[in-house]
Amino acid sequence: MYKLIIDTDPGIDDSLAIQFALASKEFKILGLTTVFGNVNVDLSTINSLRLLQLANRGKIAVAKGASKPLKGKFLGGVPFVHGDDGQGNTWQPPGSLSPINTPADEFIIEQVFKFPKQITIAALGPLTNLASALSKRPQIQQMVKEIVFMGGNAFCPGNATPTAEANMFSDPDAADIVLGAKWPITMVGLDVTHKTILSKEILQKFSEIDSPLHNHITKAYQFYQDFFTRVNKIDGTYVHDTSVFTYLIDKNLYKTVHYPVRVETQDCLSKGKTWPSLGESDHEGSEVLMPWKNRPKINICVDVNSNKVIELIKNRLMK
Ligand code: RIB
Ligand code: CA
Repeated sequence: MYKLIIDTDPGIDDSLAIQFALASKEFKILGLTTVFGNVNVDLSTINSLRLLQLANRGKIAVAKGASKPLKGKFLGGVPFVHGDDGQGNTWQPPGSLSPINTPADEFIIEQVFKFPKQITIAALGPLTNLASALSKRPQIQQMVKEIVFMGGNAFCPGNATPTAEANMFSDPDAADIVLGAKWPITMVGLDVTHKTILSKEILQKFSEIDSPLHNHITKAYQFYQDFFTRVNKIDGTYVHDTSVFTYLIDKNLYKTVHYPVRVETQDCLSKGKTWPSLGESDHEGSEVLMPWKNRPKINICVDVNSNKVIELIKNRLMK
């Protein structure tokens, strides 16, 4: 059983991921922390609260987090992917739940101190809240059980730009800090999420399940599917955020490699790109590879048994 904090920017795929986590007995969800990304942090928070209310899980805490990246400003989200409301322009009325008064970074710190070495953090958006928590209490590096984040592109093209994945692109400075800290961390990036596609047929089956959460999410997914049909020309949607939870449930479904990773923070063509080093030889004192020197190796997912991942998702969400 994972004691879990979900850091999220819902976002349509975040919503399916949250639904999946709520439906999976492996997770005891201690709280959701919200962050800007797909939408502004106010909408991330409203959407998180509504999802929990639709799932009748209103006792789960929601702590509002960062409204912009460590450097620079919030660029306005991606309405063409997630809708202006972050939920496929379904414009549901806000629920009746409110966030707790504790800000996201403080909530993360509080829970990690309350449950030392027991907290797993699933990060589904920009890593700003994690970077902020780390800068306030560096010792959480040694106290977190593990961090698994959806983001990055180690050996494949980006999606936000040809070179960078959206969550890293949204706050590359936070990402570079988080990936350089000494905590167990796994990158579930486009290297595997672009190999995992939820078909329209499966989405149709989800829509036939009559529950407030299924009804809402499958409606929002029509908007998300239209984007992928139009832009990526695929007969389904990439499984980005839910892949964090399928990884946690069955790590054997993923092949991983272990390298130090730097994130491009300069405002240039590859801003937000996650750059793994190329292996041990990098550390033979070469000045050229200094940026990776003394950086911890992180766990990078590079391949996936996507059929089994889809089966797992169907199993949990077709109930
Ligand atoms: O690149 C995909 C990621 O960016 C997902 O987390 C999606 O929700 C967006 O935040
Ligand atoms: Ca997300």
